[in-house]
Amino acid sequence: MSGITRRVSRLFGGGPRPSRETDTDPSHQAAVARTTSSQHENAALGSGDAILDSYVQGAPSGKQALEIFAGEWSSRLPPPYDVITGSSELFEDARIKWMLEVIGGIEGYRILELGPLEAGHTTMLERAGAGTITAVEGNTRAFLKCLIVKEVLGLERSHFLCGDIHGFLAECTDRFDLCLASGVLYHMRDPVEVLNAMARVSDRLVLWTHYYDPAVLDHPEIAVHFGSATERAIGDLTFTEHRYEYGEALAWNGFCGGSAHYANWLERDTILECLRRAGFDSIEIGFDEVMAQHGPALAIVARRGRVVH
Ligand SMILES: C[S@@+](CC[C@H](N)C(=O)[O-])C[C@H]1O[C@@H](n2cnc3c(N)ncnc32)[C@H](O)[C@@H]1O
Repeated sequence: MSGITRRVSRLFGGGPRPSRETDTDPSHQAAVARTTSSQHENAALGSGDAILDSYVQGAPSGKQALEIFAGEWSSRLPPPYDVITGSSELFEDARIKWMLEVIGGIEGYRILELGPLEAGHTTMLERAGAGTITAVEGNTRAFLKCLIVKEVLGLERSHFLCGDIHGFLAECTDRFDLCLASGVLYHMRDPVEVLNAMARVSDRLVLWTHYYDPAVLDHPEIAVHFGSATERAIGDLTFTEHRYEYGEALAWNGFCGGSAHYANWLERDTILECLRRAGFDSIEIGFDEVMAQHGPALAIVARRGRVVH
C-alpha cells in the first residue's frame, strides 16, 4: 500500500494508525531526539504531527489531487491521467454511447444520475450536452473522487450530492428528463421499491444491471455469493429476491457496491414487469449478456410513450 493510501486510510479512520514512513529512517530518529519542547507539548496533547501527512509538496496539479486516492480508482481517466488511475473505461463507455443513440441526444436535459462512482458517466453526459446533471453518491470516498474529477476535468453543469439513493428518491419531488441508474439496482436491498421510486421521477429510465438467473449456479465464483431466495409481494406483484453477499470484496477501500454486507438481486422478468407496470411502454434492451463477468446483465432504455420521438 502506498504512503498516500495509508494517509487516506487514516484520514477516514480505516484501520489502525500506521507509523510514519520516516520512523525507520535513522536520520529521522535523530531528528526526533532533537524534538523541540513545543512539539513535545503537541504530542502530549495527543495531536502529534500526523496532520503533516495531509499536505502535498510542489505546485498544484490534477495528478496531485487524483493521487489522494491512489490505488483506489476503478475508472481510467482521460490522458494524461490514465496512467495513475484505474482500468475500467467508464469515461468512454459503450453502454452510455448506446443509450445516447437510442434516445437520440440529451441536449439541454435535466438528468438524475444514481451512483456516479468516479463521475465517468457524468463526464460523458456533460460532454454530450446535458443541461444539468444531479448525481447522488452514497459512498463518501466515491463522492470525494467525483468532486476531484469535477475540478480536474472542469465539469460545470454537474452537481454531486452525498447521500443514499433510496433516501433521495423518497424525498424527491423534482422531475427529470432522464434518470440514469447504471450499476446500481443489484446493489440495493430493496430493488423493487427503488425501481418504482425511479419511475416516479422521470419518463426516461436508463439502467444497466445484473440480474439473477439460475445459470449463475454453474459458475462457482459467482454462485458462492448467493444465499437465500425470498418470495415477496408489493401490491399485486409477486417476485423473488436473491440475496447476494459481498464477502471479501468489502475489504478493498475502492469497494463500489452497496451500503450493506449484502444486496438483493431481482430476476430479469421482475425488472421488466416492474417497468411495464410503471407505464414504460417503450423498452429497448442492449448489452444483453446471459453471463457477463460477474453475472447475467443487461442495459435498458425505458420510456413512456409520450417521450418517444
Ligand atoms: C457498481 S458502481 C456503478 C458506477 C457507475 N454508475 C457505472 O455504471 O459504472 C455503484 C455505485 O453506486 C453507489 N451506491 C451503491 N449503493 C448506493 C446507495 N444506497 N446510495 C448511493 N449510492 C450508492 C456506489 O458507491 C457506486 O458509486
